[in-house]
Amino acid sequence: MGNKYNEAHAQSLSDPEKFWGDVAEGITWTKKWDKVLDDTNPPFYRWFSGGELNTCYNALDRHVENGRGDQTALIYDSPVTGGTVKKYTYSQLRDETAKFAGVLASQGVTKGDRVILYMPMIPEAAIAMLACARLGAVHSVVFGGFAANELAIRIDDAKPKAIVTASCGIEVTKIIEYVPLLNKAIDQATHKPDVCVILQRSQVIASLKEGRDLDWDDAMSTASPHDCVPVAATDPLYILYTSGTTGRPKGVVRDNGGHAVALNWTMKAIYDIEPGDVFWSASDVGWVVGHSYIIYGPLLNGCTTILYEGKPVGTPDAGAFWRVIAEHKVKVMFTAPTAFRAIKRVDPDAKLLKQYDLSAFKGLFLAGERTDPDTLRWAEENLGVPVIDHWWQTETGWAIASNCMGLHAFDVKPGSPTKAAPGWDVQVLGEDGHPVPTGKIGSICCKLPLPPGTLATLWNADDRFIEAYMDEFPGYYKTADAGYIDDEDYLYIMARTDDIINVAGHRLSTGGMEEVLAEHPCVAECAVLGVADSLKGQLPVGLMVLKVGVEQDHSEIVKEAIAMVRDKIGPVAAFKMVAVVDRLPKTRSGKILRGTMQKIADNETFPLPATIDDPTVLDEIQEAMESLGLASARP
Ligand code: COA
Ligand code: AMP
Repeated sequence: MGNKYNEAHAQSLSDPEKFWGDVAEGITWTKKWDKVLDDTNPPFYRWFSGGELNTCYNALDRHVENGRGDQTALIYDSPVTGGTVKKYTYSQLRDETAKFAGVLASQGVTKGDRVILYMPMIPEAAIAMLACARLGAVHSVVFGGFAANELAIRIDDAKPKAIVTASCGIEVTKIIEYVPLLNKAIDQATHKPDVCVILQRSQVIASLKEGRDLDWDDAMSTASPHDCVPVAATDPLYILYTSGTTGRPKGVVRDNGGHAVALNWTMKAIYDIEPGDVFWSASDVGWVVGHSYIIYGPLLNGCTTILYEGKPVGTPDAGAFWRVIAEHKVKVMFTAPTAFRAIKRVDPDAKLLKQYDLSAFKGLFLAGERTDPDTLRWAEENLGVPVIDHWWQTETGWAIASNCMGLHAFDVKPGSPTKAAPGWDVQVLGEDGHPVPTGKIGSICCKLPLPPGTLATLWNADDRFIEAYMDEFPGYYKTADAGYIDDEDYLYIMARTDDIINVAGHRLSTGGMEEVLAEHPCVAECAVLGVADSLKGQLPVGLMVLKVGVEQDHSEIVKEAIAMVRDKIGPVAAFKMVAVVDRLPKTRSGKILRGTMQKIADNETFPLPATIDDPTVLDEIQEAMESLGLASARP
């Protein structure tokens, strides 16, 4: 006891209905809930059942009604378009959103319909998300770095009535045309949307399909604004697909009520942000960080949010982040450690920082991957503000563990995201399902019910929801991260327990990549594993065994394999290293020893697996890794 964090954490677990019921007063409801927590159908817990609200109303209209109409709600900062900066007040953002809701409604989109958004980092992405929320329609944003095939998979799963896109995205200087990708995805998908709304950017004018496509500007010029539609607290706000253990992504479903309550509360409790403050999350609207902390969290809280279309380096230099922080008086920033590693690599002494006045800056939050102690120290020393590692997942929507800076600032321990946030009963379990002793590694699990704002289920896949998260440790949510808790309750996240890897803060499935490689006609079997990378954290490496009698040149097969992963999954997979080998190391029962190969690539020592079928194969793997520029320092 004795500090606000301890009190909040204890109450949130001992009396969650009182804790979250009080927190929910921060949201405006059109009908108050009957029950804070409906636990009649575990593991499908429902928060604020019987309650009704509109998330867009809470993010925009209520701030206008409460006198924030002239405050800046959103700053679009886009170095890739020659330094565009465009600001929207809360009134302007509400009006644009209401108009775009009118556009969607005129196309027959109503409460419960799905709308896919395949958008670059432009204000219209935020407007489209909020417009869906206004109508009670369910948005599903697909990250622009995914290929047409991934978009097609999501179209078939979500079955959208409408798709909203733009003519292009801009990757530093590369123009990525979206409409050809959209056309390819729609051709490939079985489900067809009724309408596509396309925003023409000046860099590319896309040709529109008669009868299917609407031009964003034309549609907006004649649209009537649409009012907020109240929805049940338990109705879905969005579906966000994330990598599962196969090529089939999981559609994480977020509700309206619990989400609004939790995110609004996190702004102060975790980030120590007040209404009116400037909050910048340098992520992408295609990821959960973008949903929670570019759009919903800051806007629900009446902050100014920044939508940044650029990179940490190269747009134009490694001072880009400092420029944005100084120019827009950012109080708190959130990004992935990989972005800081990119800056540190180009400007190790942070010389560019000296050109900017960062006096308004109070804190940096990092997530998406573990913050390595070097990056933590570099950021702390150069920025002179607290640097907070916090741990969460697409599924959870907000931090499971963090130094909750608005409650109590604990000392930072490098390598740890500090302690379980209020609402989270985090335990480390052994294979027998019982907690392991302090300091011992096990599966990190969260006792049910999870707090508000976490995943309600997987879209159209209740069974998969149970199988993926609830089956292995009954009564708990399995995070699929392994780690330990120390004697001061600090949590340490060490590794995934499944085949998910983390590339530049992006979550990818090696199983999904293996499925693509296996489709190559020359490939008999293959393995993809994540190897350590000093910039991106991890990078995928593929090893392929060819079918007997294949005569095609190996280097051509390698090129084709790389192109296939880029084409099927997308450039974001960063799949560029693959080698042909004669055999893969296996156990006597035929299980591929991916972990052993990863240790070879990373120059880690490892005990020879007792069950290995033929240890001599490891020398061949060593050679293959060396040919890829890995495993070089191995004695
Ligand atoms: N649309 C199309 N292509 C995209 C894309 C998008 N929205 N985002 C990334 N890509 C492409 C990149 O252009 C690159 O293509 P290439 O193989 O032709 O070079 C590829 O996908 C890999 O991208 P990325 O992993 O982002 O690497 P990078 O070398 O372009 O940049 C960093 C490296 C570290 C600068 C970058 O990853 C970054 O800024 N990360 C910030 C972290 C972040 O946003 N995390 C999200 C969760 S918080
Ligand atoms: P995503 O769903 O894309 O947000 O990825 C979630 C996964 O990223 C987690 O399960 C972790 O494996 C990893 N991750 C996210 N944040 C952290 C962190 N702060 N420390 C360690 N791993 C993290």
